[in-house]
Amino acid sequence: MSLPDKVELAIRQIERDFYIDDDYLIKASEYFLQAMDAGLKAPKQSRENMPMIPAHVSKIPTGKEKGLFLAADLGGTNFRVCSIDLKGDHTFELKQSKYRIPPELMKCKKADDLFSYLASKIEVFLEEHHDTAKVKTSEPLKLGFTFSFPVDQTALGKGTLIRWTKGFDIPDAVDRDVVDLLQANLTVLEVNVKVVALANDTVGTLLSRAYQNDPKLTNSNTVIGCIFGTGTNGAYYETITNIPKLTNPPKAAQGMVINTEWGSFDNTLKILPNTLFDEIVDKETANKGYHLFEKRISGMFLGEILRVALLELFERGLIFQELYKERGGSLPHRITEPWLLDAEVLSYIQIDDSTDLKMLGLILQNTLRLPTTKHERIVIQRLTRAISERAAKLSAIPLATIVRRVKDQYKDDDKDFEVGCDGSVVEFYPGFKEAILKAIEVINPLEGTHKRVYLRIAKDGSGVGAALCAAMA
Ligand code: BGC
Repeated sequence: MSLPDKVELAIRQIERDFYIDDDYLIKASEYFLQAMDAGLKAPKQSRENMPMIPAHVSKIPTGKEKGLFLAADLGGTNFRVCSIDLKGDHTFELKQSKYRIPPELMKCKKADDLFSYLASKIEVFLEEHHDTAKVKTSEPLKLGFTFSFPVDQTALGKGTLIRWTKGFDIPDAVDRDVVDLLQANLTVLEVNVKVVALANDTVGTLLSRAYQNDPKLTNSNTVIGCIFGTGTNGAYYETITNIPKLTNPPKAAQGMVINTEWGSFDNTLKILPNTLFDEIVDKETANKGYHLFEKRISGMFLGEILRVALLELFERGLIFQELYKERGGSLPHRITEPWLLDAEVLSYIQIDDSTDLKMLGLILQNTLRLPTTKHERIVIQRLTRAISERAAKLSAIPLATIVRRVKDQYKDDDKDFEVGCDGSVVEFYPGFKEAILKAIEVINPLEGTHKRVYLRIAKDGSGVGAALCAAMA
């Protein structure tokens, strides 16, 4: 079914603005490689450089690690506490509890407001799952802290917060050591736990996937840990001589895990596509001008890009005109207020093939209280697909580039390359993973070899990864 001419023209223009072609992917991969080197060199963090943070983990697990550890994970809307018993044979036993972070603690004055809450949940977890009398009197339990925000990490158990992302905003915590903040609040509560390691969720995902991967069975080496969820980021193992900014490398270390913070790739927009909608979304965020790559890819932003695009088309008189009149001059608040359109809703819109897109209509009615005409539903689906396709293709750029960068580390074996992935977008968004793989093929990072790249879901890797970090402390 065709759209009215004016609407069709407007949608085509937007689709063109969002379209990523093969040449772009190859050029952007080249630029990403340069951005990695620049970040590994720059002694100080700046908006211009991708952070490329040394994680102070110099070994990738073999699967033989053993012992009981605690892990705590702060990264999005939930705080997870787990205890992990590593069995030393690629397997583990895990107990965990999830606690929703009260929204008022995501944006608050004092760092201790949030960190005392986190400490109290660790205490509750121990009461529920462990013999607290024993915990009190034994050696302190070692805890690995997964903290998924940009941190300037100076040792395995030390790191100061560079800035908040993903909707958190607690200025008092910036420039402070997040391990100290958690430890101090545990001490106040007399919880017998020692925070020994700090890890980004992507570092955790890399380590936990490597622990679980038995290369003899999968014929692949784990080379990247990454997240495509509320936010996006990735970690990989870099050769020590390629990290000039590391002034004091651990003795005998061949390499080190790097938390790239690729969300901040190209903050100065030298190469990233930039539409009017991207600009509007960036202005709405607390970290304006930062993490611009993330703002084109990850779950927190996909729905918001769609929402502002729809509002723009409304302003131009192209959609929702009847509805506006019927409601006496307003639109439903869930479409006019920022951040209320969840990526999950987009995933249903993406695949609806019912007659007249009726399913999609029901979903918009249920989630946004938004009645739509058939034309409007076509517009919404086409925009959704344009936004998600761009996101998936952009996601391939760091993955393919890192594979290309590390391929020489594995030149003496014939194994394939696997990427451990976690996060709602890569796991659940229809077609996202497949679209990433197609774009990786275009960049063709393993040209000249018979090796392949696999994306493997590494569920809840960050907890096990934090335990593995604690095991190294
Ligand atoms: C953070 C990263 C994190 C990623 C995925 C980003 O916003 O800056 O540290 O790894 O989200 O959770």
